[in-house]
Amino acid sequence: MITATLLIIAAYLLGSVSSAIIVCRLMGLPDPRTQGSNNPGATNVLRIGGKKAAAITLVGDSFKGLIPMLVGHALGAGPAVLAGIGLAAFIGHLYPVFFGFKGGKGVATALGVQFGLYWPIGLCVAAVWLFVAKVLKISSLSGLISMALAPVFVWLFWDEKALIGMQLIITGLLIWRHRSNIRNLLDGTEDRISAKASSD
Ligand code: G3P
Repeated sequence: MITATLLIIAAYLLGSVSSAIIVCRLMGLPDPRTQGSNNPGATNVLRIGGKKAAAITLVGDSFKGLIPMLVGHALGAGPAVLAGIGLAAFIGHLYPVFFGFKGGKGVATALGVQFGLYWPIGLCVAAVWLFVAKVLKISSLSGLISMALAPVFVWLFWDEKALIGMQLIITGLLIWRHRSNIRNLLDGTEDRISAKASSD
């Protein structure tokens, strides 16, 4: 019980470390919360800083979900504790204690949680993301569609109520965090994936 609680708290704290803000600071780029979509996430870092900064942000944000899940597995955590760890890491990214509880939209961290839970789940979600991104070239729509399907992948690969519940909550929160993107998608004004050219 104590180990589970500590794991969940540690996952939240790790999730609260914003890769986008740190990467932009270290690379001398503008604060992602004040540029582009104002979102501290890899897509916005791609816009304002280019591919290298975005790739580091993507890996950093994914690892915030991946590492706590792998530690949970290594310590023999069951589905309920794994669900708590995954949710905590994701919520840390959305509502980070270190950045005034104003975080990102959660796609990369959710993907890390899914890979850490059971890699085929992550692979399926990533494949959907890549396919939609290749065809439609809109990051938010790729995230929304792949994460809307994620509960189905969890159910197919690991039919456990706590884990499906975790994914349903993650998907719900992720959709909520994308409400401005959804408005833009409906208006036809959502940005297509684009990288700042000069720094690549
Ligand atoms: O992962 C974030 C992405 O889905 C949307 O980002 O910057 O276009 O709002 P952005």
